[in-house]
Amino acid sequence: MKKLLQINSSIYSTGGQSSQLAAQFVAAWRLANPGASLTLRDLAREPVPHLDAARFGAFSAKPEARTVEQKATADYSDALIAELKAADVIVLGLPLYNFGLPSTLKAYFDHIGRAGHTFKYTDQGPVGLLSGKKAYVFAARGGLYQGTARDTQTAYVRDFLGFIGISDVEFVYAEGLAISEESKNASIARALRRIGDISAPAALAA
Ligand SMILES: Cc1cc2nc3c(=O)[nH]c(=O)nc-3n(C[C@H](O)[C@H](O)[C@H](O)COP(=O)(O)O)c2cc1C
Repeated sequence: MKKLLQINSSIYSTGGQSSQLAAQFVAAWRLANPGASLTLRDLAREPVPHLDAARFGAFSAKPEARTVEQKATADYSDALIAELKAADVIVLGLPLYNFGLPSTLKAYFDHIGRAGHTFKYTDQGPVGLLSGKKAYVFAARGGLYQGTARDTQTAYVRDFLGFIGISDVEFVYAEGLAISEESKNASIARALRRIGDISAPAALAA
């Protein structure tokens, strides 16, 4: 049975444009994958704490040497990683806030990017440990950035996912949402058409 993990990072939870586009894709994907399981991680409803020295110290401590508090912190991160490892398909809602990704998503990344768990260092450099997964990213933005140097998100998210072994990543953009009602409607319509293309049975089977 295939497993899909949807991660929403809009401050508006399921009401965000990025979350709604992600949900459209997930609905189509589920039609093509009856019986598949869906896990929704909503970073607005359940924010991951920001990483600090105490939390990183808990990750780095030897399991047998962890205090009760450190064990709880490491267990929490381990559970996020287990959820991600279990997924065949990852769907990420990605809003643009103040020229970057939501701080909740960064905090999530800080809890899943862990040496020995999602990547390891080798003589040839770092190697990602999460293989065989496909990720779809639904990026919603007020302005226009795609393909320009001001797009701070695409390369970063692609790099981070690639670093942990998820290199098959597809982006769908809805941009210009704050420019005008016409721009917003046209952009969402374009994104929905793209979702139709990438969720067609032949595309999902590829
Ligand atoms: C706090 C905040 C900061 C934003 N910063 C930017 C920005 O830097 N550039 C931009 O183009 N749009 C910006 N926007 C507009 C969002 O990208 C747009 O509303 C998008 O739909 C957000 O995704 P969401 O609806 O899934 O939350 C911002 C919106 C908010 C609420």
